[in-house]
Amino acid sequence: MSDVKDVTLAAEGKKRIEWAERDMPVLRSVREEFARTQIFKDMNFSACLHVTAETANLMRTLKAGGANVLLVASNPLSTQDDVAASLSVDYGIEVHAIRGEDKDTFFKHIEAALAHKPVITMDDGADLITTLHQKYPDQVKEIMGSMEETTTGVIRLRAMEKDGALKLPVVAVNDAKTKNLFDNRYGTGQSTLDGIIRATDSLIAGKVVVVGGYGWCGKGFAMRARGMGAHVIVTEIDSIKALEAVMDGFEVMPMEAAAKKGDIFCTLTGDINVIDKDDFPLMKDGAILCNSGHFDVEINLKALEAMAEKVTKNVRKNVDEFLVKGKRIYVIGEGRLVNLAAAEGHPASVMDMSFATQALASSWVVENRGKLSARVYDIDEAIEKRVADFKLNSMGVSIDTLTEEQKHYLDSWQHGT
Ligand code: ADE
Repeated sequence: MSDVKDVTLAAEGKKRIEWAERDMPVLRSVREEFARTQIFKDMNFSACLHVTAETANLMRTLKAGGANVLLVASNPLSTQDDVAASLSVDYGIEVHAIRGEDKDTFFKHIEAALAHKPVITMDDGADLITTLHQKYPDQVKEIMGSMEETTTGVIRLRAMEKDGALKLPVVAVNDAKTKNLFDNRYGTGQSTLDGIIRATDSLIAGKVVVVGGYGWCGKGFAMRARGMGAHVIVTEIDSIKALEAVMDGFEVMPMEAAAKKGDIFCTLTGDINVIDKDDFPLMKDGAILCNSGHFDVEINLKALEAMAEKVTKNVRKNVDEFLVKGKRIYVIGEGRLVNLAAAEGHPASVMDMSFATQALASSWVVENRGKLSARVYDIDEAIEKRVADFKLNSMGVSIDTLTEEQKHYLDSWQHGT
């Protein structure tokens, strides 16, 4: 039985799911195919993902393929309670997710996902897989494979693989070009700003925005913040990415230097304490801090809380105020993913590609069951091509095809100067 906040929210949730579906043509085509092939007939699936309208459409797609799906939250503060209610009431999908759930409830929900005895699992941050390996090692052999949606999760899984701890095949959906070039860049770019603006109503033009990390998420956010008139500073630990940021026209400096200059700070790295205890006292009065990485560890909030003379929760919805040396520092969404905690996550149009890739990766695992080993797999190129071709088609964009002469030229090495 589902564990959701309030089933009477279902009608609103259904509207939201249907609205998102209009912008998810690639996923719709996959759903139609699954409905015909019934590739997941009678298979139990457990998914630990952000419970949003877009995820609801992924769940519908898996169910259309015959799967018996159970969905739990991958973050305590990202659940859309109306969507959770509708999935349960209108679509007959078991959901265990409540926005604002505490850590115990969060892990109780993960336990429910494992008690469902899945043969396929899906993660956004790898909490399901790490709990499985640590607490239920005997259950691992029942699982054909798992999918991982986000950078932070892939980092954890690769660490497990390196340690010899990974005991099942995992597909790094995050690393697909059809995912990270679009979802991480354009999705995070837009939805992170959306979260900051909804939470604070700040004008971005003329502000100094500090971007912690210049991976695809950081790049997208920096690009969009600049587009709205911010002066953008990037901090990095990787010299190639730092160079990229410089040549993209951004100022690059260590966080300690940026701390004194920033009006708005956002971390997007997948690592801990990117904004650390020594940085807070350097900040300007009124500095706004948020995180768009998966876990709430990128800003050292424990240190901030410990050093604050006063903490005022909810000075505005989703915003807490910390008084440090007489200066006010604002933190959005308790340092959790700002785009999901304070806004609605990435728009459906970009999740369309991520979740079509995710759905097709699941069917790839089923088609290849028994042949895969316990390691992290990249997405099959044919899946990426299919998703990209279909997305272009749905946008009414056509492209050229190589002529026979061009193909021959590319395959040969004799032609030169
Ligand atoms: N991650 C970021 N945005 C998301 C969304 N809208 N749905 C599910 N996962 C997400």
